[in-house]
Amino acid sequence: MCGIIGILGDHQAAPIMVDALKRLEYRGYDSAGIATVQDGTLDRRRAVGKLANLADLLVTDPLAGRAGIGHTRWATHGAPTVANAHPHRAGRVAVVHNGIIENFAALRRELSVGGDGDWESQTDTETIVRLCEHHLSQGKSPQDAAFATIDRLEGAYALCFLFDGEDDLLVCARAGSPLAIGHGEGEMFVGSDAIALGPLTDRMTYLEEGDRAVVTRAGARIWDGRGRQTSRDVQRIPLDSQRIEKGGHRHYMAKEIHEQPQTISDVLDAYLDGDRVAPPEAVDFAALSRLTIVACGTAHIAGTVAKYWFEQLARLPVECDIASEYRYRDPVIAADGAVMVVSQSGETADTLAAMRHATGKAARILSVVNVPTSSIARECDVAFPIHAGVEVGVASTKAFVNQLTVLLCLAVLAARQRGAIDAAREAEIVGDIRRLPGLVSQSLAVEEACADLSGWLAEASDILFLGRGAMYPLAQEGALKLKEISYIHAEAYASGELKHGPIALVDKTVPIVVLAPHDALFEKSISNMQEVMAREGQVLLVTDKSGAEAGGGGVRATLTMPACPPLLAPILYAVPAQLLAYHTAVHKGTDVDQPRNLAKSVTVE
Ligand code: G6P
Repeated sequence: MCGIIGILGDHQAAPIMVDALKRLEYRGYDSAGIATVQDGTLDRRRAVGKLANLADLLVTDPLAGRAGIGHTRWATHGAPTVANAHPHRAGRVAVVHNGIIENFAALRRELSVGGDGDWESQTDTETIVRLCEHHLSQGKSPQDAAFATIDRLEGAYALCFLFDGEDDLLVCARAGSPLAIGHGEGEMFVGSDAIALGPLTDRMTYLEEGDRAVVTRAGARIWDGRGRQTSRDVQRIPLDSQRIEKGGHRHYMAKEIHEQPQTISDVLDAYLDGDRVAPPEAVDFAALSRLTIVACGTAHIAGTVAKYWFEQLARLPVECDIASEYRYRDPVIAADGAVMVVSQSGETADTLAAMRHATGKAARILSVVNVPTSSIARECDVAFPIHAGVEVGVASTKAFVNQLTVLLCLAVLAARQRGAIDAAREAEIVGDIRRLPGLVSQSLAVEEACADLSGWLAEASDILFLGRGAMYPLAQEGALKLKEISYIHAEAYASGELKHGPIALVDKTVPIVVLAPHDALFEKSISNMQEVMAREGQVLLVTDKSGAEAGGGGVRATLTMPACPPLLAPILYAVPAQLLAYHTAVHKGTDVDQPRNLAKSVTVE
């Protein structure tokens, strides 16, 4: 979603800001802009579409100055147009903003002296600069005007203000959207994440909720949410962890799919000890009456798989809910249960809000997160890191399999703590789990076949995915990945549910991907597959060698996966789900890493 950069530097800010915004491209955006102060004069350039458009504009119409702010915008209030792009400006002040100002309509009415016609944009953000300019015109200093403005804002925001006549001043604030301050040698930076600031500095201060900061080249002064001046740690963030490269792959998504054997191995190092599960943080599942998993998107699908594992292995009742639904349906929250949120970014607004809703009501608030400095990781009781490293592709891949791996380990831990398995069974399962990096590596061998099938899939306008048991959420993941990046309509159904309606969609133009490892449910899945083929459905069967031998007759194509213990199948079968989507998107020529309309980290509700 939107990205922010702010610079008080030693060099021309515009090219450095465009570079920083490029590093933020992965978050998803549809317009971009920068503003600088040169010889005391504030000016800005903005462009719709990819950053290349802004870079082109800066060639024909350059922007000088060593102080500036920049932004990539993912449209919320108003279409992606130049007028709606950030930085927004009113008189002597410009601002970049991530998030949503919820009371913007009231502020707009209040500020609309000459009717509604004098507004330049349709955004909520313009109310911020109008209000700030109003305070400046009352004689307030830039800092006081910005603080008085922030006092009036309701909603979620990360903000960075730049002022005409001030080339050594940025004022910023964090409420609900992350913001970091970078410390250079006689230079200072502001960024919406560490990746933005990556090559500029490795010394960063993360603002806490409610913080405001006044940044000059001499340093940053910070006030907390209650207005008390405070100090926040300067952390060293290794430059390595901020570097994002494609590593010889055509897309980040391809690189991230191929990294999975390694990222799984990394996370297992942190969660296994000999033949036992030993997570980095303590939690007692025996004390819980139930577990509620709450998440969005792919993370929600990981939670749905975990429901199968926790219930089967640990006999712990689990419900898995979509964060935006959970929060507003007034859920019954058991005081002796735990709520576990799953989130790659740790910043997804709906997930964060759902977590806050449960805080103080459930016995424990747990999280499974990739970004250890994120709001969710910091606000929960116990955060379980997934060690996937930076994930750039908008379509989540390695974070998904690492979420699954952590959730499986936690389910085994819960089973031991609740007396549902003994040490020998735990050792057996842990022995299986240790095979995961090798098995996922072998699963990548289906890539060539996926590429071969992509032409067929790319021609379809609808594709169905079917699965039973824990393969049902994997079917959902396959359909989600495909629609996200190839824009082909895809739906997933529990195989047994097909005949209760969706079978009406089946004809020879609809490819049907059946995920069916040769397990206890295999015969049932094959029966459902036969029902489809009897109606001319064109089946792509994803199974293992014995599954292909036992049930592969009459299908259009088969992807042959390595045989694996049933508990591991959801992790392995993520690979063909990802590769089918990836190669179909490549075949169609869509923007794989930054698909239209999507954002990596969705920080608005
Ligand atoms: C966005 C991304 C998805 C992701 C979802 C949840 O929609 O495009 O890939 O699954 O957000 O994100 P989170 O960071 O909470 O896992």
